Amino acid sequence: MDNIKNIELFSAYAGDIINHESFLRGKHIFSHGTITIYEHSINVAMLAFRIAEKQTIKHPALDIRCVVRAALLHDFFLYEWHIPGWRYVMHGWAHPSIAANKAREVFGITDKEYSCIRTHMWPWTFWRLPRCREGWIISWADKLVALKEAALCRGKRRKLYDPILST
Ligand SMILES: [Fe+2]
Ligand SMILES: [Fe+2]
Repeated sequence: MDNIKNIELFSAYAGDIINHESFLRGKHIFSHGTITIYEHSINVAMLAFRIAEKQTIKHPALDIRCVVRAALLHDFFLYEWHIPGWRYVMHGWAHPSIAANKAREVFGITDKEYSCIRTHMWPWTFWRLPRCREGWIISWADKLVALKEAALCRGKRRKLYDPILST
């Protein structure tokens, strides 16, 4: 985050989600390597926010609030997926819709935010292309962050595991 104004803006958009008990459950679920869903989601939201801020120069109508909120909730599926079984096999395809539905249920997200979450795994979910610039920003931010996290965490052991969340 570059300056105080940006930190304040990010917090204004993200604060209620980051401090919500449901979002905090992501601290007990792994994303990539030793990175939790909580950390991954914040990393993606911060990168997406930076990209969106730059893009507003050319695209002033860009909805930065939507970018931040949908990025934070793009992996809001709230289950442990590193367990052999259908969840593990289907996770890549299934979790965008599960996350979008949970985010709508808990945070009452907008239709645009819902669409951004649901399409973030393109091209894995090749039939669901992002429908707006905000969706593309989140989709690319997710991929860049995931690559970086996977590279940084290679070979590190996972220490967190919450059996309650695996049911
Ligand atoms: Fe995802
Ligand atoms: Fe992700």
